[in-house]
Amino acid sequence: MECRVGVISGDGIGPEIVAEAKKVLDKVGEKYGHTFCYEEILMGGCSIDATGEPLTKEAVAQAKASDAVLMGSIGGDTRTSPWYKLPPEKRPEAGLLALRKELNLFANLRPAYLYEELKEACPLREDIIGDGFDMMIMRELTGGLYFGARKTEETDGVVTATDTLTYNENEIRRIAKRGFDIAAKRRKKVTSVDKANVLDSSRLWRKVVDEVAQDYPDVACEHMLVDNCAMQLVRDPKQFDVILTENMFGDILSDEASMVTGSIGMLASASLNDTKFGLYEPSGGSAPDIAGKGIANPIATILSAAMMLRYTFDLDAEADAVEQAVKQVLKDGYRTIDIMPQEADKRAAVTEVGTARMGDLICDRMN
Ligand code: IPM
Ligand code: MG
Repeated sequence: MECRVGVISGDGIGPEIVAEAKKVLDKVGEKYGHTFCYEEILMGGCSIDATGEPLTKEAVAQAKASDAVLMGSIGGDTRTSPWYKLPPEKRPEAGLLALRKELNLFANLRPAYLYEELKEACPLREDIIGDGFDMMIMRELTGGLYFGARKTEETDGVVTATDTLTYNENEIRRIAKRGFDIAAKRRKKVTSVDKANVLDSSRLWRKVVDEVAQDYPDVACEHMLVDNCAMQLVRDPKQFDVILTENMFGDILSDEASMVTGSIGMLASASLNDTKFGLYEPSGGSAPDIAGKGIANPIATILSAAMMLRYTFDLDAEADAVEQAVKQVLKDGYRTIDIMPQEADKRAAVTEVGTARMGDLICDRMN
């Protein structure tokens, strides 16, 4: 198969982690007889530096012409980077939001899974961890607060900032269906997360989710308030299978879920629309503090590439092989710094490696 992959290396650790994911894809190509053709696409801070815009029309066209886009991370240090002196719509993150909207990537899948080998990196107590956990966060990605009208204005010397949270029933229905479809192939439970005790948008969310649930009699559906969910994620994460939620709640809860699974460096993601196209990116940020040091964890990006194989190219066996190789490397005791155990005796039992070595080790295990 010939696969046209747009690549947004981006800023910070982006280029380093993307290089490892490409290495792994090339290994898949070599082993299974596929060709991955990459085309670099500018987005974020590097695009601002080169073109003055975080996302150009050309970049959008390049992404649209690809079968899938693999992305690293965008953005910089909000306190020191000159990108954050620009108006909000010219900053790196605006590029990512615009790309999600342009490509209609409304369904964001973030699988949070605790690897047996990473139990030590999990900050929760052993009795809470138990046999580990495995959940899928389904985050609505093109609506809500991140896309509603916003303004900052001054009236009579007082500055007021406004953001608006809007959802229509169709936007809720299509993400809910995706959530139930995925739950039907997993442990058949959807926890829909909202703030229906306060927000109108959440009350509509709950009503539409209940309607969609009628079509999935085999999938259990429960509703949970977002503040409670934030607590339940650290109190008893095992209870979750699919967490279905709106844009901002999903943004926040997925970072929390990633930490519960050991590190944000492990959390992959797929952003999908109604076609086979997808944008695949690690859920973590550009980590400017460690950029260029060769220590960033490439696993989330590599697992995002595995999601690309699975969801865009229907290459399930290849995706399984990548995921197995990641598991094996962890089993063999290799860790990037973010997933090193805390206790000295446990640290002594594993080997700390950098970004490129981790990529090499994963490729080796695909032989
Ligand atoms: C994420 C990120 C982005 C988001 C930022 C960079 C705009 O935090 O993918 O979770 O909020 O969606
Ligand atoms: Mg986020």
